[in-house]
Formats: sequence, C-alpha cells, structure tokens
Amino acid sequence: MRHLIDPMDLNVQETKELLALANDIILHKDKYSEVCKGKKLATLFFEPSTRTRLSFEAAMMELGGNVLGFSSADSSSATKGESVHDTVQVVGCYADIIAMRHPKEGAPLLASLKSPVPIINAGDGGHYHPTQTLTDLLTIQREKGRLEDFTIGFCGDLKFGRTVHSLIKALSRYPNIRYILISPKELQVPDYIRTEVFENKHISYRQVESMDEVIGELDVLYMTRVQRERFFNEADYIRLKDTYILDTDKLKKAKQELSILHPLPRVNEISTKVDDDPRACYFRQALNGKYVRMALIMKLLEL
Ligand code: NCD
Repeated sequence: MRHLIDPMDLNVQETKELLALANDIILHKDKYSEVCKGKKLATLFFEPSTRTRLSFEAAMMELGGNVLGFSSADSSSATKGESVHDTVQVVGCYADIIAMRHPKEGAPLLASLKSPVPIINAGDGGHYHPTQTLTDLLTIQREKGRLEDFTIGFCGDLKFGRTVHSLIKALSRYPNIRYILISPKELQVPDYIRTEVFENKHISYRQVESMDEVIGELDVLYMTRVQRERFFNEADYIRLKDTYILDTDKLKKAKQELSILHPLPRVNEISTKVDDDPRACYFRQALNGKYVRMALIMKLLEL
C-alpha cells in the first residue's frame, strides 16, 4: 500500500506519469467519470482549508466516488483526546482512502503507520504539502511546457510556507533550475531545506530581500502569504505581512513569459489588478489542483 506523505514519495518517473494522467483527465473527463464508483474518500481536516479539501472532494466526486469527513478538529473526536492513530484506524473501516491535514508536523506520517488505507498528507504544520506540489508541478509544466531549465523566485514567507518547502524539495530533482529566494531575513527558508536540499545536492541559490532587483530574471514567480497562524507573536506578523506586494507597476520590469503562481489563499501580496494579466496563473493553478488530485486518488487506489 502506498501513501503520499513527503513530496519525494513519488519519484520523477511516477510524477511524470501522474502529471500525464492529470493532463489526460483534463482532455477526456468523461472517460474517468466512473472509475471510483463505490469508493469513498475521507477528508480529515484538523486545520482550516478551502481549496485543498474541496478540490479533494470535487476530485473524488468527478471520479464517481463519494466523500465523507470533517473540516475542523472541533467537530471530531480529537477534542475528546483521540490520537490520530486511533482516528485513522476507525476511519479506515469506513473509507478507502484518507486525505489528512494537521497542524502538527509529522501527524500524517504517524497516521500512515497504522492506517489500513492509503493516507495523503494534505498539509502538516509548516512542514510539507505534497499535493500542492503536484498542483504546482502540473501548472509549471502546462504553462511553461517543461519542468527544467528555468529561473524560479520564491517570495514571501519561506520559513513557515510548507508549499515552498515541498516544491523546492521536489524541483531539486530536475535539471538546470535556478532558485532565487526573496524574503525578509526573519522569513528565510529553514536550515533543513538549505542543508538537506540545496547543499546536499550542490544546488546553488540566491537569497535576496528585494523583489525589484530580481523580478526581471524570473520565468516563474511563486508568491506566498505570510503564515499568520504559525507566528509566535502578532506584532511580528503585522510588521512583516505586507513586505511584498506584487502590483502592475512591479510587473513592468518582469518578462513577458513570466508565470505567476500562488498556492492561495492570497491576503495582500498580489494586487487584484494583477489578476487580469495573462501572466497570472493562480486561478488556473487552483483548477489544476483538482485534476492532479483525481490522478493521485487513482494511483493510490491502483485504478
Ligand atoms: C496553502 C497551505 O495550506 O499551506 N494553501 C493551500 O493549500 N492551497 C498555502 C497557505 O495557506 O498559505
């Protein structure tokens, strides 16, 4: 039985096949409308979500399956003190596959050790978010036509942003990618990303504080919000939250072929005026998330 806990759990070849399946689903939706007939997906969300949970549920419905679950820890037995081990062993009696989001790093991994059905990590604390990574890879591939040889800028909260950690880790397996990390000093990527990914694999990267100085070099700009819920104090959040605001003025310096990604939700970091720019990919990215999750459910259920 396979789970998806870490962005590296799928190798490059498997990722390629999964993205190809997602692209085929986009082209031939009808072909897939009954593949999960009689199957159930449980979404166990101990932390808030809009896109991830609903795209998982929409994905299962479009495959002809059913969904059940909860969308906050308050409405589950976690409030009574139940462990994730016990929760998944019970939910595994009711569902064929589980997508779990949890504020504690490593909770989905722990769950997978006891689960009778495949577990998908739908975000664990500030750690990883592998299905957002698959969404991002599909988006880059569809927008740029390749998953190699480009310059990507990650901007915003690179410390707590789990989508950033996952995507950097997954991209480190593709050739010729140049990384520019744009953040205030306090929000730079954690040490384990620097050592385990960049240094270990001899990948060079630049860390800068100003977006203006590098925006003209980028092929992909990955914007993120400052992760308020992971700050220890509100004053720091308020000081840092609007460090970067991408607007139409800043974009004048950017390449015509730039692709702007954002895992969403957006707070202030991209002006809504940018939405009309053809370089803004984030709503297409959110749609891709549903198709890639359809492909993932099929893969883990071996359909
Ligand atoms: C992200 C997450 O939950 O980490 N959202 C998402 O799943 N698309 C990004 C975020 O919350 O900032």
